[in-house]
Amino acid sequence: MVFARGSNTVPADLPGAIAELRKQRKAIILAHYYQDNSIQDIADFIGDSLELSRKAAATDAEVIVFCGVHFMAETAKILSPDKTVLIPDLEAGCSLADACPADGFASFRAQHPDHFVVSYINCSAAVKAQSDLICTSSNAVSLVQQLPADRPILFAPDQNLGRWVQQQSGRELTLWPGSCIVHETFSEEALLRLKLAHPEAEVLAHPECQEHLLDQADFIGSTSALLRRAASSEASSFLVLTEPGILHQMRLQVPGKAFYEVPGADGCSCNACPYMRLNTLEKVWSCLETLSPAIELEEGLRQRALAPIERMLAMST
Ligand code: 13P
Ligand code: SF4
Repeated sequence: MVFARGSNTVPADLPGAIAELRKQRKAIILAHYYQDNSIQDIADFIGDSLELSRKAAATDAEVIVFCGVHFMAETAKILSPDKTVLIPDLEAGCSLADACPADGFASFRAQHPDHFVVSYINCSAAVKAQSDLICTSSNAVSLVQQLPADRPILFAPDQNLGRWVQQQSGRELTLWPGSCIVHETFSEEALLRLKLAHPEAEVLAHPECQEHLLDQADFIGSTSALLRRAASSEASSFLVLTEPGILHQMRLQVPGKAFYEVPGADGCSCNACPYMRLNTLEKVWSCLETLSPAIELEEGLRQRALAPIERMLAMST
C-alpha cells in the first residue's frame, strides 16, 4: 500500500497503513501507558517517562512518533536533535507543565539562590533549562538521595510527588505548588467503596496522587513500577489509582488477575488524561503521512535543557 504525501483519504485499515508508513519513513512509534488501547497495540515500545526517554535517546530510527504528551516528545527532541520527532496532536499538553510557567519559575529560583533545582520531567524545555537535575516518578527518590546532604533542594512542579519523595528520601524539599488535574481527581469515597467490595485487593497508586489517597495505597510507583508490582504481587486483584490506560497492559501482561480503575468524584471519567487522549490512531497515521506536526526547538534552549536530562540519565540505574 503506497500513499501520496499529503493525501487526505483516511485508509480503512489504519493499523495496516501505519505499519506500511512506519517502514517507509524508518520510524519508531513510542507510546506512554496512558495512550488509548488502539495506539498501545500498534506501538513499537510502550513505557513510562524514563523508559521512553532512554528509548528516544538510543533508537537508530530516523523518525520518532511520540504518542504521549508534548513535554515527552520535546524531551525526545532534546535528546535526539537530528531526528524528526512527531507528536500526533500538538495540543496534547500537560496540566503539570502548564502549572509551572518559565518566568514564574525563574522568580521562585531567584528567591532560593542557594538551592539545588530538581524538576520533574513533566515541565517545559524552558523550565528544564533552569534546572540542575531532571527526575521522573521512577527515579526521583533515588536521585534526591544522591544529592549532597548539606544542599537545600527546590522541587517542581508536582507538590504531591514532591511530598512523597520527601517522605521516602528523608530530605526536606521546597515545593513548587503544582499538581496534575487527573491525579487530583480520584475520589477517596469511591476508593473506600471499592475496598469494601474487594477487601482482598491491593491498592496501587501513582505518586502524583494526593497524600490522603497515597496513605491508602499498598504500593506506590511509576506506571512501569505499578505494572511490575501487579505481576510480582501475590494478590490476585488490584485497585488502580492512576490513569486507566495502564490497565490495558496490566490485563495483557498479567492475565488471570483482576484490575479495577478508581473513578473520579461522582463517578466521572475525569481519571482519563484529556491531553493524552487527544492522540488517536488516525492522527498517528496522519503525522506519519505528512511528517507533521514535528517538534522544533531553538538550539541554545535545547542544549541548556539537555544538561540536566543527561545528568539524570547518568545518575539513574
Ligand atoms: P510516569 O513517570 O509513570 O510515566 O508518569 C508520567 C505521568 O505523566 C504521570 O501522570
Ligand atoms: Fe500531565 Fe497529569 Fe496527564 Fe500525566 S496524567 S500527562 S501529569 S495531565
